[in-house]
Amino acid sequence: MTSMHEPTAEDEKALVDATAWLLDRLADREATMPPAAERPELTPITEAGVGIAAAWAELRDIVLPTAIPSDHPRYLAFIPGAPTVAASLGDLILSGASIYGGSELEAGLVVRAERAALRWLADLLGLPAQAHGTFTSGGSLANLSALVVGRHQRRERTGGRPHQIVAAAGVHSSIGAAADVMGCELILAGSGDGPLTADVLAASLQRLELHEVAAVAVTAGATNDGSIDALDEIADVCARHQLWLHVDAAYGGAAMLSPRTRHLFAGIERADSVTINPHKWLFTPFDCAALLYRDPDSARRTHAQRAPYLETVVGGDNPSDLAVGLSRRARGLPLWLSLLANGAAAYRDAVEACLDLADRAAEAIRSADHLELLEPRSLSIVVFRRVGWSIADYERWSAQAIQDGTGLITPTRSAGGPALRLCFVNPLTSTSDIERVLTSLR
Ligand SMILES: Cc1ncc(COP(=O)(O)O)c(C=O)c1O
Repeated sequence: MTSMHEPTAEDEKALVDATAWLLDRLADREATMPPAAERPELTPITEAGVGIAAAWAELRDIVLPTAIPSDHPRYLAFIPGAPTVAASLGDLILSGASIYGGSELEAGLVVRAERAALRWLADLLGLPAQAHGTFTSGGSLANLSALVVGRHQRRERTGGRPHQIVAAAGVHSSIGAAADVMGCELILAGSGDGPLTADVLAASLQRLELHEVAAVAVTAGATNDGSIDALDEIADVCARHQLWLHVDAAYGGAAMLSPRTRHLFAGIERADSVTINPHKWLFTPFDCAALLYRDPDSARRTHAQRAPYLETVVGGDNPSDLAVGLSRRARGLPLWLSLLANGAAAYRDAVEACLDLADRAAEAIRSADHLELLEPRSLSIVVFRRVGWSIADYERWSAQAIQDGTGLITPTRSAGGPALRLCFVNPLTSTSDIERVLTSLR
């Protein structure tokens, strides 16, 4: 009997087959929609195992065909993801090479490559030279990690026990989840219909005891409609009260690459912490979010874990010290590899292409009698109504659209009623993809 760790000829064949499968998939993303309707029982896990060839065949032929890959050109629901080939290569190798990304001791230059990607992101956001951070599994964990640092710093400054997170009403649900995990009360400012203004935030703060406020969280690119809170003025309010300002740019931050949209983010460079997710609009496989701090030392004081067996790495620039969690995947490596391979200009072009798609979709909706564009639209998200439809009509259409291969588009709520939402983060989506979706709504 061979050990399951020793590569055999069968293992080698499976790896070669998998690479060929991957290349086929990349050559024909269209083929994955609609997903396989049949969902047979999976082969049971047994004492003996079925061997790598049968296991790979089950994954390839039974499991994967039921999934809709997030880079399908008509996957326009939620926030899709469209990794570059180089980023996918980085991700594959990261697993295959068994890299532990907690510190430079184990990961060597992998950690430095992640740092280079973080520097690129910090520069994109306009953060100062000392800004630094780490990659986490997603925006939710990045938001949680940032707010914990905000509270820690507030405790250090005031000596109190702040227990309130003040957030723009349109923030992502992960801010509420973070407040919950932290045992904090979430206080929403504004209505959530459109961006938060500084006046509304100031009025909310006025009703509170400021020493009880742990941090303020706002959004640069809301998930539902792409709206951006009034960052610069909000930064003034936070500075006046010495409150930690966290900006969630998980989706929207990528739009800072475009001269068309960059000005909308003015003031983000004044944030204490910023979340930006490469797995959303920076063409990296799931899962990869970046969290950047203006003052990384405050994050280290909050998150660095101490144990006798960790003393070797204490005091270094360890990615694990900057967010919740210890063992970590070096999630920034795929972004670094792709930036290195493709260059920043290709990223700018790809973001521009997505903004163009959103413009074209908005234009087509405006000129269609059966559709109504919900204004204002922002970044690469387009929210609209099918005239005369109820939520049941949207749900029926959405389910049918998956089955007949039209696309993955799910309903939302906007301006007090049901609506549809298209999110463009895939430069491979085409005008004819948009036409196909809109025509099916007749
Ligand atoms: C603005 C925003 N923040 C946070 C999140 C949560 O990120 P993740 O799903 O990576 O945890 C999302 C997810 O869509 C988001 O759009």
